[in-house]
Amino acid sequence: MSNSQKEFSFNISTKIEFGKGIVNKKLVNYLESINVKRLLIVSDNGLKNTAILQNLIELLVDNGLDVYQFTDVEPNPKSVSVTLGEEKYIQNDCECIIGFGGGSSIDVAKAINVVVNNKGNIFDYRRGGKEVIGPLSTLVIIPTTAGTGSEVTNVSVISSLEDKRKYVIASDYLRPTITFLDPTLLLSLPRNQLAFCGLDALVHAIEAYTNRKSQPISDGLALDAINMIVSDLPIAYSKKDDLESLSNVMLASTMAGMAFSESGVALVHSISHTVSSHFNVPHGLANAVILPYVVEFNLLSEPEKYLKIFDIFEEKHNLIYSNGNHTDLPETIRNFTKKLGIPPNFSYLNITLSDEKINQLCLDTMDDKGTFPKNSRKAEFNDVKNLIVKLFE
Ligand SMILES: [Fe+2]
Repeated sequence: MSNSQKEFSFNISTKIEFGKGIVNKKLVNYLESINVKRLLIVSDNGLKNTAILQNLIELLVDNGLDVYQFTDVEPNPKSVSVTLGEEKYIQNDCECIIGFGGGSSIDVAKAINVVVNNKGNIFDYRRGGKEVIGPLSTLVIIPTTAGTGSEVTNVSVISSLEDKRKYVIASDYLRPTITFLDPTLLLSLPRNQLAFCGLDALVHAIEAYTNRKSQPISDGLALDAINMIVSDLPIAYSKKDDLESLSNVMLASTMAGMAFSESGVALVHSISHTVSSHFNVPHGLANAVILPYVVEFNLLSEPEKYLKIFDIFEEKHNLIYSNGNHTDLPETIRNFTKKLGIPPNFSYLNITLSDEKINQLCLDTMDDKGTFPKNSRKAEFNDVKNLIVKLFE
């Protein structure tokens, strides 16, 4: 569709502060400027006793702030984390939330911000439910991974234990007020996490660029993000402590987040939400495994855009292919993810799917309302089934 036929909006209200040591340089001044005295840090178990979290707490306490902590966020976080964090915030009369960590901590920080200001259970506000009423409290985000994009998006994803589903809470009020991107925080990130998160960002950029709601502003951000991840993620993965490539992956991840915040993601995420909910596979890993299968399915729908993506891989990695066209893209992505330690499918889980389970996975995938309808090629039940069967063979 030509631009003259399109209608779209673009809104990124989150302020971004980027730089080495930027948290130490600017966070306290920022909190003072908005008169915050009591704040809740939301983080996860893995970071609980790390130097990077202790440094943050020390920085805040030394500057006279009252710091409370909720550091029990789990991967694929559940609503119980939101409730526990909400209690901490209310008991201590906090005025501000700092989400410190990866996507799970950031999403829980956003969700706590919804319930402390709107009351009720977080699932009351899932897509199709009650509207979030704002403005909410000040939300500061400090990512310690690069990939989720959640530091700039208007969504939070929370899992329900009861129905094994991930639910999306979406509202512009969820956007963080300010995000501090400090690439030195990535120095302690394990390599496999770096790969999972970086590939999640690649999926965000590819899906934002190719789905039905893509638009020129997010296309620009997405293409640049693809460029930076394709060239710098392998360097960041193989060279320890390379701050230049880590900076580029971090920036690309935020740019991909800005892109998909407006145009959304599609079928890779519909399937990965389902797989993660049923089998507890980390989000980025699930996306990385699924990506080439969905690209293969989608190629027909956006050949020019997929060719542009293929050209980026070809240019950055000097690929020489006999076809040299977009149909080489799935195999190219497979080779790329393999070098980053990603398995070719989910057979490593050793799960045999019954017909009933396959049907359930297909139905859940097709019911992922925020992502499934945006896919560039319309997928029918049998298409989804074929993809899922192939992924688990
Ligand atoms: Fe994602």
